Amino acid sequence: MSAEASAPPPALTYRSERPKDGPAVEALLDRAFGPGRFVKISERVREFADFASELTVCALRGERLVGVCRIWRVRVGDERVAFLGPLAVDPDERSAGVGAEMVARASAAAEAAGEAGVLLVGDEPYFRKLGFAIAPKVRMPGPVDPRRVLTRTFGDLSLEGAVRPR
Ligand SMILES: CC(C)(COP(=O)(O)OP(=O)(O)OC[C@H]1O[C@@H](n2cnc3c(N)ncnc32)[C@H](O)[C@@H]1OP(=O)(O)O)[C@@H](O)C(=O)NCCC(=O)NCCS
Repeated sequence: MSAEASAPPPALTYRSERPKDGPAVEALLDRAFGPGRFVKISERVREFADFASELTVCALRGERLVGVCRIWRVRVGDERVAFLGPLAVDPDERSAGVGAEMVARASAAAEAAGEAGVLLVGDEPYFRKLGFAIAPKVRMPGPVDPRRVLTRTFGDLSLEGAVRPR
């Protein structure tokens, strides 16, 4: 075996998103979601939300982007809330906890920044394990399966009302 073949892979690191990550993030999201990704209800929210690059978490294997968990600033009712998504991990890196780690880091960053909670539209079986629960009183800006509207709040708070711009 050559020295190159036996070299360990570069370490996995996490950091916030930088402007130069844009093309790699778009390529990762295209691979993970395909062309239908822009018709999702979450995309309607992102049209009016403020992108929070400093709360967004990127996972890198060496220099290569292998995961992203984007965060946006919105309001729900009167509360300032972090809207999470898209979340995607490179197929070669899945089922190793990268997705869970990015959600945990983004949530911690949102809490430290004073957000009241994290909101997302996604698969409950996955996000329940990460501390999220169905948010029956949050109104999205269009039709959505209510079982996919999930929140995790910081402190004893139940989010209620329409999702709207900050
Ligand atoms: C969803 C995703 C981000 C998870 O990334 P990951 O790094 O593999 O996640 P974790 O390692 O934290 O968790 C993996 C576990 O979650 C499970 N899982 C993945 N997607 C799931 C889903 N939609 N519903 C339920 N469970 C799911 C996996 O089967 C795996 O289970 P295992 O540990 O028993 O093998 C990744 O699969 C992905 O990029 N998918 C395509 C994009 C997507 O659908 N994103 C939005 C999710 S709502």
